[in-house]
Amino acid sequence: MGEYCQPGPQVRAVGPVSDDNRVPTLTNLARRHTALTAADVDWLQALVSDWQLLADLSFADLVLWAPLLDGSGWVVLAQMRPTTGPTTFHDDVVGTFASTGTRPFLDAARQEKRICREGDPEWTRGVPVRRESIPVTREGKVIAVIERSTNLSSARTPSRLELTYLKGADDLAQMVASGMFPWPGQEPALVRSPRVGDGLLRLGRSGKVSYASPNALSAYRRLGLTADLVGADLGPVTARLAAPGQPTDDSLMVTASGRAPRETEVDGNGSVVQLRAIPLVVNGLRTGALILVRDVTELRHRERELMTKDATIREIHHRVKNNLQTVAALLRLQARRLDAPEARAALEEIATVHETLSHTPEEIVDFDDIADRVAAMTAEVSASEAQVKPVIVGRFGKLPSAVATPLALVLAELLQNALQHGLAQSLALGSAGNLEVMVSKQRDRLVVRVCDNGAGLPEDFDLDSATSLGLQIVRTLVVAELGGRLEVKPRIGGGTEAIVDLPLESLARVEPQPKRRPPTGKRPTG
Ligand SMILES: Nc1ncnc2c1ncn2[C@@H]1O[C@H](COP(=O)(O)OP(=O)(O)OP(=O)(O)O)[C@@H](O)[C@H]1O
Ligand SMILES: [Mg+2]
Repeated sequence: MGEYCQPGPQVRAVGPVSDDNRVPTLTNLARRHTALTAADVDWLQALVSDWQLLADLSFADLVLWAPLLDGSGWVVLAQMRPTTGPTTFHDDVVGTFASTGTRPFLDAARQEKRICREGDPEWTRGVPVRRESIPVTREGKVIAVIERSTNLSSARTPSRLELTYLKGADDLAQMVASGMFPWPGQEPALVRSPRVGDGLLRLGRSGKVSYASPNALSAYRRLGLTADLVGADLGPVTARLAAPGQPTDDSLMVTASGRAPRETEVDGNGSVVQLRAIPLVVNGLRTGALILVRDVTELRHRERELMTKDATIREIHHRVKNNLQTVAALLRLQARRLDAPEARAALEEIATVHETLSHTPEEIVDFDDIADRVAAMTAEVSASEAQVKPVIVGRFGKLPSAVATPLALVLAELLQNALQHGLAQSLALGSAGNLEVMVSKQRDRLVVRVCDNGAGLPEDFDLDSATSLGLQIVRTLVVAELGGRLEVKPRIGGGTEAIVDLPLESLARVEPQPKRRPPTGKRPTG
C-alpha cells in the first residue's frame, strides 16, 4: 500500500462560473474585490502553485481568504484539498464571501499576525472539523489568510509518518506566516514535482536524516543504498549513490542536504530518483528540511524508449527514401539507352512511381508536377503512333502521397489507352488528334476526365466484364484503393471519355496526422 496516496484533486485556483460568466481566477477575484497590489497577487499565485504540499502534510483542506476592498469581510480566492486524507469541502467555495465577525479566527490571524486555532472542533455536516487560520505575510504585511480545516472524523493516534508530516506542516505554516514561504523568485514547477505521498524524508539542521518514509527508503534502496538512511548525511550519501560520470555537481549536494529550495534528479544503479528540497526556517532559524522523493525510473525508461523508437523510424524512412530514389535514377539512366519507346516509357513509369513512393504516405505532394511528367512520358511513347501531346486543364493541387501514387498509375494507363487505341487509328485516317485531361476539384470530390476524339470504344466494350489487364488495374486502384468511381464511355462528339471520380474525404483521411512530439527530457534542476 502507498503512503497516503489517494487520487486527489489537482490545483483548484478557479471555481464555479461567476455572475458575469467569467471563470473567477485568483487574479480576477483579487482585482475586483480586494485592495491587493499586483505584487501581492503574484505572491499569492506562487503560494497557490505550491500549497498542495501544505494541504498534504496537514491532511487538511486549505482555503485562501483575502480581505474585501470595503473592509466588510472576506472573499475566497482559492481552495485546495489534500491528497492524503478526506476533504471537508465537497463544494467549491472560490468566489464566496464572509462578512467581518462571522469568521473571527480570520480577523484574529490578520490582526495578531499569528496562527490562530479555534478552541473546539466545529461540526460541519456531522463531521468534526478543526479550523486554524494562517496569516499570509508579504514584506511584513498580512495580505491574506489561509483557513486550514482538518477533518477529525478519521483521526486516531498518529503514526511516526503522520507526526513527521504534521511537524513539517507546522513548520511550513510558520514560514507562510513569517513571509518565508513561498520562495520569492522561484519558478513554479511545470512538470509534476514529487508529492508528499511519493516519499518523504525529514532532515535535521545539519542535513542528517531524522525520518524516512517507507517509499523514500525504497527509492534510495533502488539507487543502491544498503545502509540505514536514518542518521545518514543525505547530501554526501546521495552524491555517492549517483552514477559515476553524472556530474555530482553542487546542485545535487545542495538539494540533497536541503539547503536550497530546489529539485534535482539522481541517476544511480540503473534507477532515477527525483528529489525536491523544502528548507524549513522557523523564527529565523533553520530547523532542517523536507525532502520529497519520487522514483521516476519507469517514467524515464519509457521516455528514452520512445525517443529511440522515434529516431529509428526516422532513420528507416530516410533509408527507404534514398533507396527508392536510387532505383528511380537507375531506371531513368537505363531508359535513356533504350530505343524502343514502349520500353523507355515503361521504365519511366516505374521510375515515377518509385519517386512518388519515396515520400511517406502522409507526405503531401504537388500532383500537378507529377501529372505533367506522366503526360510527357506517355506522349513520348506514343510518338511513333500519334503525335499528340496531352493537355491538362485545371489543377490537381496538393495530394497526400498515398493518393498520388495510385492516381499517377491510373492517369498513365488511361492516357496510354487513349493514344494507343483511340488516337493512333484516327490519326492514321488523317484527322487531328486531341487528348485532354480535365481536372475539377470541388469541395468534397476530385473528378478527372481523360477525353480523346479518337476512334472510340469497340462495339462490344464492357468495362465490368473486361478481362484485359490495363483497365482492371485502373478499376482496382480507383474503386478499392481510393474509394472512388470509374466510368469509361463514348464521348459526345466522338472518341472516348474516361471519368475518375474520387471522394475527397477519403483523401483527407490519409492527410498527415500531427506528429507526435518527442517526450520532454529531464526537467531543469534549480
Ligand atoms: N481511349 C480508348 N479508345 C478506344 N478504345 C479504348 C480506349 N480505352 C480502352 N479502349 C478499349 O478497351 C480495351 C481494354 O483496355 P485495357 O487498357 O484494359 O487493355 P489494353 O490496353 O488492350 O491492354 P493493356 O492491358 O496492355 O492495357 C482496349 O483493348 C481497347 O479496345
Ligand atoms: Mg491499356
